Amino acid sequence: MKKFFIVANWKLNGNINMISSFFEYFQLYALNYLEKNTIVIAPPTVYLERVYKKIKKMNIFLGAQNVDIHLTGPFTGETSILMLEEIGAKYVIVGHSERRLWHNETDDLVAEKICLIKKLNLTPILCVGETKIDKDNGNTKKIIKNQLDCILKKLGKLAFQNIIIAYEPIWAIGTGISANPKDVQLIHEFIKNYIKKNDSSIKNIIVQYGGSVNIKNVKSFIIQPDIDGLLIGNASLNAEIFLKIVKTSHDIF
Ligand code: 13P
Repeated sequence: MKKFFIVANWKLNGNINMISSFFEYFQLYALNYLEKNTIVIAPPTVYLERVYKKIKKMNIFLGAQNVDIHLTGPFTGETSILMLEEIGAKYVIVGHSERRLWHNETDDLVAEKICLIKKLNLTPILCVGETKIDKDNGNTKKIIKNQLDCILKKLGKLAFQNIIIAYEPIWAIGTGISANPKDVQLIHEFIKNYIKKNDSSIKNIIVQYGGSVNIKNVKSFIIQPDIDGLLIGNASLNAEIFLKIVKTSHDIF
């Protein structure tokens, strides 16, 4: 059965107390809603193992927010995919606009990371999306096509097998201004068609939406046929709010 794919991207937030209370609540109430949802929690690197201990018996999965392109060696401050694999991570977010913006990550670097993640059989969650200026100039599809082309160039025709795509318009992230769900539906359709055009053998492409999803607007996204999941920042930090989102998708999906 196809499940709705919800990822909590905690970004640079959380602490030991927050993690304890988040999962106390989750252990009590989340189990009822896992049948129709795949849930991934992506905490800051330093808390990955702590979170894994909480979720490993719950059928919830662990995601990392970033990975280095090296497996081992003199790369101070970095995290290797081997380490992520060893501690139980299944997913890795790559190409988030915050990393592209604040850490100068290029499309080429993102493609390299995806290559490595796939080699180790973890699943990349590739973020794509346009700036406000791109949107206002009608360049959304062009920008996304370029972002996808870079991956195709590096990984070849089968690049998008076992990848999750997250469409995150940059102007909608953390602003409280989410994209219009019908516009998102069209972009998701475009992404899926573009991927299928390059790889006719591909099945089950998962495209998530991310950007100011909250309890009030979540339903309008879930009901779109090509929104297969959500990548959630702020609203994933509070267990009660996050669970309401999970429950909404359970009730609709
Ligand atoms: P917000 O839900 O806080 O807008 O963040 C979205 C996001 O960037 C998830 O990766």
